[in-house]
Amino acid sequence: MIGFFRDENGLTCDGVSLDTLATSKGTPLYVYSAESIRQAYRSLDDAFGSHPHRIHYAMKANSSFALVRLLRECGSAMDANSIGEIDLALRAGVPPSDIVFTGVGKTAEELDRAVAVGVKAINAESSGELERIDRAAVARGTRARVALRVNPDIDSGTHPHISTGLHINKFGVPLEQARTIYRKMVTQPGLQPVGIHVHLGSQIVTLDPLQRAASTAVKLANELREVGIQIEYIDLGGGLGISYDGSRVPGPAEYAAAVLPLVATSDLAVVLEPGRVLVGSSGAVVTRVVDLKPGPGGRNFAIVDASMTELIRPALYGAFHRIEPVTCRDAKEVSYDVVGPVCESSDAFGQDRRFRMLEVGDALAILDAGAYGSAMGSTYNRRPLAAEVLVDKGVAKVIRRRQTLDDMLALEQ
Ligand code: LLP
Repeated sequence: MIGFFRDENGLTCDGVSLDTLATSKGTPLYVYSAESIRQAYRSLDDAFGSHPHRIHYAMKANSSFALVRLLRECGSAMDANSIGEIDLALRAGVPPSDIVFTGVGKTAEELDRAVAVGVKAINAESSGELERIDRAAVARGTRARVALRVNPDIDSGTHPHISTGLHINKFGVPLEQARTIYRKMVTQPGLQPVGIHVHLGSQIVTLDPLQRAASTAVKLANELREVGIQIEYIDLGGGLGISYDGSRVPGPAEYAAAVLPLVATSDLAVVLEPGRVLVGSSGAVVTRVVDLKPGPGGRNFAIVDASMTELIRPALYGAFHRIEPVTCRDAKEVSYDVVGPVCESSDAFGQDRRFRMLEVGDALAILDAGAYGSAMGSTYNRRPLAAEVLVDKGVAKVIRRRQTLDDMLALEQ
């Protein structure tokens, strides 16, 4: 078995006891399963089978260096959202031709660097940005490969904070303007249009919107071909969700079955930018109970040493994460509100969770925290960034040590 499961030592990651890790490495602690990341990559890659496709891992989900390198070893290309992520990918041995550069609001400096590096494509967000890319490329005597991010005005049904494909969202250009912009692109000497980019949002658990987005992109590609503009691929973005609460959600195979027939008739390759589906379920935050006290409605507060600084998703999106005691004692079940120590009432991980009675010092695991956990971490309240451990073939390796106050102060004068 791989991932997080229970054996006679309590909850484990790939069979390595989380209680032992909590003791030896301290808490709060991120723990990841290497094999389950590999498996997630393979299942998405296999799902797209022989249709020409390339998976560009969306590093924003978790850009810990060891995980980026692990996904690289799996064969993954990368989706970068900043120069920091581009440079990280390069340091991980990813060639520029395997990097797409996305993101609303790229600075002139970032565009120039992306042009100089020669990435596979800059996913352009506006006509203005295309002009800036054109100028940067001409100044360097080159042509920049670009894909226009099209906003198809499709409701992905996800949380409004992470929906990006509606016309009210700041992302991309309206579909109606896309044809005109592509026509102009071919007259701009510094631009080579190579793709069409759509990304509807994140944690999408129904296939219909993803299918409609793919169909929009294929249709646009066909229309462009009719006017003599031949692109290489459509970039379907990321967004495929995972199950946080155990309910059934479509997986990679169903996703591929939904979109592949739409592209199969064309000679277009497919680019994917998955983040969460590759790393989300492969990580947990391990934390210890630091205090217990009576709370509202007969429930109890279990105050833990992890907070919104390690996993902000519940505070930011009201997101549900399963929480499990690492070991269970033989005691009656009690209901708990599991909360963090930070001075914000939103610093809470779960309400009304029933566990066998907890004691101070007990370890809990907050599951499915591999994506947008450590990547969105902060040092609010002067809390050091937590350590991260990668378990691979029974060996737990610290891939990021815990930050110290000296580390933090090193930046300050
Ligand atoms: N491509 C683009 C252009 C994106 O903006 C994103 C995510 C992805 C790919 C990867 O999406 P994924 O496959 O991971 O859904 N912090 C939020 C999620 C924000 C997603 C931002 N963009 C959360 O914790 O739910």
